[in-house]
Amino acid sequence: MVEKVMTIKNIADISLPKESISVVFITGVTGQDGSIMIDYLLRNTNAWIIGGARRLSVENHSNIKHLQDEPRFQLVNFDLTDSHSIYKLMETAKPDYFINFAAQSFVASSWDFARQTWQVNSTGVLDCLEAIRKIKPNGCRFYNAGSSEEFGNVVYEPQDEKHPLRPRSPYGASKAAARQLIKVYRESYNLYAIQGWLFNHEGPRRGEEFVTRKITKGVARVVKDLLINKTPVPIELGNLDAKRDWSDSEDMIDAVWRMLNQEKYNRSIETQPTYNPFIQESIIPFIHEYVVSSGGNHSIREFVEVSFKAAGMTDGYWIGNGLDEKFVIDRAPLRLTLVKINPKYYRPAEVEVLRGDSGLIRKELGWKPQNTFDQLVKKMIENDLK
Ligand code: NAP
Ligand code: GDD
Repeated sequence: MVEKVMTIKNIADISLPKESISVVFITGVTGQDGSIMIDYLLRNTNAWIIGGARRLSVENHSNIKHLQDEPRFQLVNFDLTDSHSIYKLMETAKPDYFINFAAQSFVASSWDFARQTWQVNSTGVLDCLEAIRKIKPNGCRFYNAGSSEEFGNVVYEPQDEKHPLRPRSPYGASKAAARQLIKVYRESYNLYAIQGWLFNHEGPRRGEEFVTRKITKGVARVVKDLLINKTPVPIELGNLDAKRDWSDSEDMIDAVWRMLNQEKYNRSIETQPTYNPFIQESIIPFIHEYVVSSGGNHSIREFVEVSFKAAGMTDGYWIGNGLDEKFVIDRAPLRLTLVKINPKYYRPAEVEVLRGDSGLIRKELGWKPQNTFDQLVKKMIENDLK
């Protein structure tokens, strides 16, 4: 059977609903979060959704291919580094929500492509803010994907909304700069423009270079090799000691939608009878930016152990130290190496420990995660074993 290819339109060809139904524009829809946001909105709202994706020589639509016959979804050519495409999109679609997930999102690459990281993650956001303020300042809510990487060299744990921004990578710096721009535009022009601090979140749609997916894919490969008595090629990793506060990406997307609709979810706002974000003189006192996280954290080493266990291999163990550390199993008469260190995966500067305090969003917007760390690893392993 020939697989149908997702149609990608030009911005000028966007079709809009005749009735007054919300229009949501989402960037970065070929990635993890953008694609999950579309599914979330299709399930929970009647909004029309426009997804922005870069034109590439080779199609990369695996995360959205299930949407090809979805009448409420349209895919358009869009590049965040081209301010014309942002303006054209705003003029044509005049969306009620602009959700920006597009980014150079891989921290490790941000040292190699520092300028491009800045252009997409900071200048791109500035261009979105300018386009919104000029074309639809009242009634286009803007969300930008902020990150726990902005906290960087952390001074206390768990990190909450008051933690200082101390980025350690060009990526972290670019997201911190975008946060400052958003604050300035919110306060200067009364825009509903916010940036949450999302801690690491993962799932089966996670890119394969991020450590969790690299591990779960690697574990699936190793397990299959062992089943056919083939000596597995070890998974190569960098810093095993770093700790991350990992959540399921499905939970995080729910938090983003709550942050974009705070008058609906925040009980203290709801009780203020005069509040209407589209006519209120100032919305600034009513909207907040929140930390979103599970509240627990695990080292990369633990993620490896839990992943092998989830794949049914309980007899692996660590030997050696530093660069010689290895995760091995005994298959008499051999000891097989399943994971080893490759120093090329170390970074010029590391964020050693991240753990978020999401107490405020739980209290004010009623958000809470539905999935545990063990469920997340199991889901990723099951997907990769398939
Ligand atoms: P992802 O899977 O890497 O997706 C990034 C998306 O951005 C891809 O669709 C990519 O398109 C697109 N993109 C990159 N440059 C672009 C450009 N110039 N114009 C248009 N689109 C462009 O990332 P994610 O995990 O979904 O994360 C979504 C957002 O949340 C990112 O901003 C990330 O920095 C932020 N964030 C993520 C996490 C996390 O743990 N996942 C935590 C905090 C913050 P291509 O497919 O063409 O490359
Ligand atoms: N990618 C990768 N590959 N990371 C490794 C490896 C490896 O082989 N070995 C160890 N690590 C360590 C990294 O040094 C880092 O400390 C940790 O694993 C997590 O790395 P990533 O999965 O690449 O994610 P990240 O924490 O750098 O960034 C992610 O989370 C941020 C939120 O805190 C990305 O999704 C960012 O876009 C996001 O903002």
